[in-house]
Amino acid sequence: MYSKFTIAQKYLHYLLTSSNGKGHGTHSPFVFDFILNVLNDKTVYPDYKKIENIRNELLKNKNTIEVEDFGAGSGVIKTNTRRIDKIAASSLKSKKYAQLLYRVVKYYHPKQIVEIGTSFGITTSYLATANSNSVVITHEGATSILKIAAETFNKLSLSNIQLKKGNFSETLPATIADLRTIDFAFIDGNHRKKPTWEYFELLLTKSNENSIFVFDDIHWSIEMENVWKEITLHPAVTLSIDLFFIGIVFIKKDFKVTQHFSVQF
Ligand SMILES: C[S@@+](CC[C@H](N)C(=O)[O-])C[C@H]1O[C@@H](n2cnc3c(N)ncnc32)[C@H](O)[C@@H]1O
Repeated sequence: MYSKFTIAQKYLHYLLTSSNGKGHGTHSPFVFDFILNVLNDKTVYPDYKKIENIRNELLKNKNTIEVEDFGAGSGVIKTNTRRIDKIAASSLKSKKYAQLLYRVVKYYHPKQIVEIGTSFGITTSYLATANSNSVVITHEGATSILKIAAETFNKLSLSNIQLKKGNFSETLPATIADLRTIDFAFIDGNHRKKPTWEYFELLLTKSNENSIFVFDDIHWSIEMENVWKEITLHPAVTLSIDLFFIGIVFIKKDFKVTQHFSVQF
């Protein structure tokens, strides 16, 4: 993982070099439309408040839970005692990005959604709420965290979510084997090069001409920057949009040329 200073430097570079987020100078009609109607949609959807109320409850919860640590990617699990508020403050996608994912789902209507890394289910709830006709299959290894995610879904009366418990290395191949196609995926766990690439390749086996994959923390470490670069260069990827804290790739077969954008958000 890069130091905070390095990430700040990289973020400044992104701000100075990315296109301005207004769509000017963007020669792709698809990207122009994305910037206008998704990225810059400032509507305050009523769903936002319902989900943010639950995030706020978690941010105030000083209880502790025993959490299995899947770090270093091994099958070996050690547990740590962690405070719920601290996890809520550090592990969940912020409201700005979770709400962007909500708008992506609301706009493009993906039906089969896969999330890798549920945590307390806040972003999952955004994805599931944005399109009630979708099914969100979300994956989490830590039992106590998963329990809180299930409570989140109950509080929001969300019934279009399937929770898969266990190490991604086992649960994800099983999920993908069962699916006919994957329209949208959010990859937000185990931020290292090898597993991220493996998840990408697995997801690709069930992609279609409208699939959208979102990768979290693409500038978090040299490994993540490298894997993000490799993903954008994969022949199946016909458009990539770097928003610094997340990267979005479109697997759209009907684009004539592959394009890569860095857009301010
Ligand atoms: C960054 S959090 C997910 C946050 C969530 N997507 C959100 O925005 O609200 C990543 C989660 O992945 C889980 N995780 C990481 N590596 C894993 C693995 N190899 N198998 C199963 N779960 C894992 C962690 O326990 C953690 O809860």
